[in-house]
Order: sequence, then structure tokens, then C-alpha cells
Amino acid sequence: METELKARPADGVATIEAPAEQSEHAADLQSARALIIQIAAVQRVLRIYKPNNAAVTLAVTSLMETLEDLFQAMGGVEIRFWRDCIFTNSDRLRCDISNFAAYKSMITQSGRLEIEKITIESGVTPDELTRFLSLYDSLDAKGVKGSDVADRVASEGLAHIAIVASTQSTQELQDLGIEHLTSQERAKRAFYAALASAKEALLTPTSQGVASLRKAKRAVQAAADALLEDETSVLALATLKDHDEYTFTHSVNVCIFSLAIGQRLGLHRSWLGRLGIAALFHDIGKVAVPTGVLNKIGVLDVGEWEAIRQHTVRGVRKLSKMPNATEHVLHSMIVAFQHHINMDLSGYPNVPDGTSLDLFSRIVRIADTFDAMTTERPYRNKVYSPHEAIRYLVAQAGPKFDPVLTKAFAGAMGIYPIGTVLRLNTGEVGIVVRRSELSGDPDRAMIRVIADSHGQQPAKEQFIDLGEANPDTGEFIYQVVDTLSCQDLGLDPRDYLMS
Ligand SMILES: [Fe+2]
Ligand SMILES: [Fe+2]
Repeated sequence: METELKARPADGVATIEAPAEQSEHAADLQSARALIIQIAAVQRVLRIYKPNNAAVTLAVTSLMETLEDLFQAMGGVEIRFWRDCIFTNSDRLRCDISNFAAYKSMITQSGRLEIEKITIESGVTPDELTRFLSLYDSLDAKGVKGSDVADRVASEGLAHIAIVASTQSTQELQDLGIEHLTSQERAKRAFYAALASAKEALLTPTSQGVASLRKAKRAVQAAADALLEDETSVLALATLKDHDEYTFTHSVNVCIFSLAIGQRLGLHRSWLGRLGIAALFHDIGKVAVPTGVLNKIGVLDVGEWEAIRQHTVRGVRKLSKMPNATEHVLHSMIVAFQHHINMDLSGYPNVPDGTSLDLFSRIVRIADTFDAMTTERPYRNKVYSPHEAIRYLVAQAGPKFDPVLTKAFAGAMGIYPIGTVLRLNTGEVGIVVRRSELSGDPDRAMIRVIADSHGQQPAKEQFIDLGEANPDTGEFIYQVVDTLSCQDLGLDPRDYLMS
């Protein structure tokens, strides 16, 4: 473990390439960018280890070295947050793929804490930095804000570090139209905007179809952008099932899962928009199927079954009535028609041998099956856990689902998707809330503990990172011995994921 952590701060620096002309200013900027990565690295290890742990010492040493460089060049260091940007002294720092995670986490945290500026003076000690970053995180966890954060830091006796609170509170910023939203909040908004548009688009009489299509396109693009920014949060939202208004929620979820596959394939933004629209409208034909048939408990008779199968063709018909048939609508018609056809052409509607299925139809087939399997419905006895649903998709890849796309989807969701309840070899039971912060392995997750090894509910929030390894052997400490069903345990995953 320590070997892995040792490499981290240095890795962060190494990914920043020196500019061609090695001007002093460029070198300072490089150090400033490394500074943000290293602060985030210290915060990360402090969340796992005690301040006196070797991994913390090592990360703080790297941070000190960078600070010394900056002190030599510019005396003191000022880190300033403004909207989605970070400035050191008067330079705006460029955000790219090598520092994106560190920037995002610092900006989000400063927004929650309502902090405008952190100043670090020459002469700061490693102990001061460690104490400051521990305090900063703990104040964030307690929900302390603005001038209270500055006061707490000042009262801690940190002679070389100071905080300046934002002059405007979140409310004031919102009133001014400048919102400091966390990526999860942004993701949530995009999700609900997509939900509202789906509802409108699905219910609006066809004569007004153009307006609702335009709205739906905007919402889908926002959902795609939010997904690019914070895949985990958006996928988490889609995993949280809302049992009301099934078709609408289902349409938005299928849209988000389809976009996740599309992004893994590297589709261009405009194609993602088209895919999102097609996914949103895939079940539009269900509006014409009586709800009594859609929600019927028990066996469907031949006529009822045929009515359900007809939603594919009815979808095409409904889309064809949209006043101006853009390429988006034409592509949506193909998906509405094909989304229940398997790779071996079983499923429905019947199509001639040799028919090739559209890429978007194959994507939506996977997203649709996953969402249907994991959602509670009146007529369905068993709700599959996200983990079981992924296993089913992988097992049926080939005859039913496109193997490459299934792999892309499993990669986006992980073997234990968000919302899965796991029992560990150490006895704890927990729910997957996000990816591991310690391991890049997509199958390692962060869980929130529901019951400790004695079966007791923890008194306060407790997390276990399944990516944590034994420092001596390098082997993972935690193994999953069982997956449990939220339904059987009587749990609502939302209680654990949204708090
Ligand atoms: Fe369908
Ligand atoms: Fe569907």
C-alpha cells in the first residue's frame, strides 16, 4: 500500500509536462499546478491514515518541496477560488486531464465551505500543513461555513496559514445568478431536467412535438455533460429507483445508461445527443398501451401480450407524426422499433434473417434490460440487484447482447454497481456508494457500512474502501463474500446514497 501511495504525489507532478520554453514563470506555474495535486494527495491519505502515518509524512514532504520552490519565486502562496477556477497569486491555473480530479475536489470543497482564499506563508511547517488539512476536511464534514471556517483555522494557532471566507454567501451568489454548485448537484439538476423533459415530450400532443423535442435535446445534452463531469454521481442517481411514474423515470434512466455506454465508446458529443434522444423515446409507444395491461399482475393473455409487443411499432408511428422529422427523430424510430430484438434476432418484433441491428438499438437493448431488471414493478416477483443484473448481461453477451457494448457497460458500472449491498470477509455489511479512492480497479468500491462485524448499525457514518491493501503483502484486505438484496433486507438505497 505504502509503495503505491509513495508513487502518487510524484506521479501527479510527472504528468505535467514542462513547456517548450522553460521560462521561470512557466516553471512557477508548473509548481503551482503540482501544488493543487499534492494538496489533494495529502487530503486523500489523511482520510485513510492517522497524521503520523508514513504515507502522510511522505505526501506532506512532497508538498513542502513544492511550496519551498514557490516561496523562493513569489514569497507567499495565495490559492484563490472563483467559480470553477483556481488562481495562485494572480495566475489562473489550467485544468486538464492530469489534474482534473484534484482541481474538481478542491473547487467543490471550497464551494461547500464558502471559502475564497487560502494563504500559506513562507516558514510553514509540515506539522502546520497536516493539522490544517485535517481541520479543513473535518470542518467540511461538519458543515461549517464561511467566516466560521476562517475563525476555526485562526484559533488553531497555525501561524503561517490563513483562510478568507467568501464575501458572498451561497444564497447571495444564487441571487446574483452565480451559483456554486457541486458536480453532484449539477448532475442531479440535469437528471431531473431530463426527467421533466421526458415527461413533457412523452405526453405533449404531437402538434407541439417540435418544442418538446427541442427541450428534450437540451436536457439530454445537459445530462451528457453532467455525466462527462461526474460519471459516478449521475450513474448513482439513475440507480436510485423512483417507483412512481415508471415509464418516465425508466426513460431517463435508459437514456443515462445508454450515454454511459456511448461515452465509453468515445462517441462524439453530437452523436451522444442523438443517442440520448433515441434512448429517451425508446418506449414512447407505451403511452398507447393501456396502463391496466402494462401493470397487470399475473399472466398476460394473448391479446394483452400482443398489445405490449405492439409498443415498438406504435413508437415508430408516434415518432413519425412529429412535425419535422429530423435525423434525431428518424434514428429514434429505428431504436423504438429494434430495442427488444436480441443479437440472434430473437425477441420482438419479428425481423427477416440477416437483419443487422443499429448500434444505438444494441446500446439501448442493454440499458433497457438493466433498468427493467433492477426496478420493482407490480408484476415482477424478483427485483435483481445491480450486481446480479450485470452478471446476467455478461452471461448473455453474444446471443442476446452485443459483447463489446456489454463490456463497456460493465466497465462503466463496475462489477458491484452503486447501490449493491455487500457482505465482506471481515463481517461488515455495506452498500456501494462510489468507486474506490485507493485502487484504480473498477471492481473495487467504496462502501458505506450498514452493519459492523457484530451486526450492529454504526453510531456514525462509516466507510470502507475495498481498494485498501495490506502494506506488507500488498494484498487487498477486504473481499466480498456475498451480495445481498436491498429488497430482502427492507432497505431503500436512497437513504444511504443521498445523505
Ligand atoms: Fe420497450
Ligand atoms: Fe424500455
